[in-house]
Amino acid sequence: MADLDDIKDGKDFGLDKPADRQGFYLKGLAHYDWGLKNRMGRIFNPKTGRTVMLAFDHGYFQGPTTGLERVDLTILPLAEYADVLMCTRGVLRAQIPPTVTKPVVLRCSGGNSILSELSNETIAVDIEDAIRLGACAMAAQVYIGAEYEHKSITNVIKLIDTGMRYGIPTLAVTGVGKDMARDARYFGLATRIAAEIGSHYIKSYFIEDGFEKVVAACPVPIVIAGGKKLPELEALEMAYKAVDQGAAGVDMGRNIFQSDDPVAMIQAVGKVVHELEKPEKAFQMYNDLKSAS
Ligand code: 5RP
Repeated sequence: MADLDDIKDGKDFGLDKPADRQGFYLKGLAHYDWGLKNRMGRIFNPKTGRTVMLAFDHGYFQGPTTGLERVDLTILPLAEYADVLMCTRGVLRAQIPPTVTKPVVLRCSGGNSILSELSNETIAVDIEDAIRLGACAMAAQVYIGAEYEHKSITNVIKLIDTGMRYGIPTLAVTGVGKDMARDARYFGLATRIAAEIGSHYIKSYFIEDGFEKVVAACPVPIVIAGGKKLPELEALEMAYKAVDQGAAGVDMGRNIFQSDDPVAMIQAVGKVVHELEKPEKAFQMYNDLKSAS
């Protein structure tokens, strides 16, 4: 029964403190609903505003690439150090135990292979299955300038529209076709188009010249892919430069799971991303962890 005889009148209405009207710590996302913000808040650490996503979705068009032959053996030991897991629903169900409670960004495009035209993708997951799997976000490639540019943009638009019904954000991944120039002009165009259609965050690539401008002109957060395997120090330098120039973290695959010591590497990457640790110090940390293992 309600204690109607003990209702205390409010005292402190904070009249001298205006209510926060900005609403959210991630760029461009202040005006979304609670559920979508909560999912973004599970992807991006609210203390640092950044994320270390571990990408191991490569098999969806590349097959069992080096480091992903046995996801259960190579990726599972890394999960505890990642902020987010990015993979396909097939690998998630088959090889990631549901007791792993890290947020999942679900690869939701597919239908292509390295033997065919990469940009010819379709939506490969129904929204109901993404919800069933508890996905924190859905991801699909946009291939700007490629043969199937329009189709890939349409895929992302459809994911955004279906995800918005349920508060599930969409990550647009800027896929680079074989003949694309990897420069600020290209990534500025690709990331901006992805943001304008309503993507909630965008994966792009770090470039030495003009990355800061690409980030500045993109109204939502950008995370960088790692790209092809580099020596560990170079990969840490790339991550450092990216976050220093405004990236909200990494969505890194090969430079972690193809490292000589993936467990040490993911921790070193985390130190750079969340604490802006200098690459040389993070590399020292990598070597210390490696020799201790
Ligand atoms: C594949 C992807 C990968 O998730 C992305 O490329 C990140 O992996 P890596 O760091 O190995 O480049 O989107 O299409």
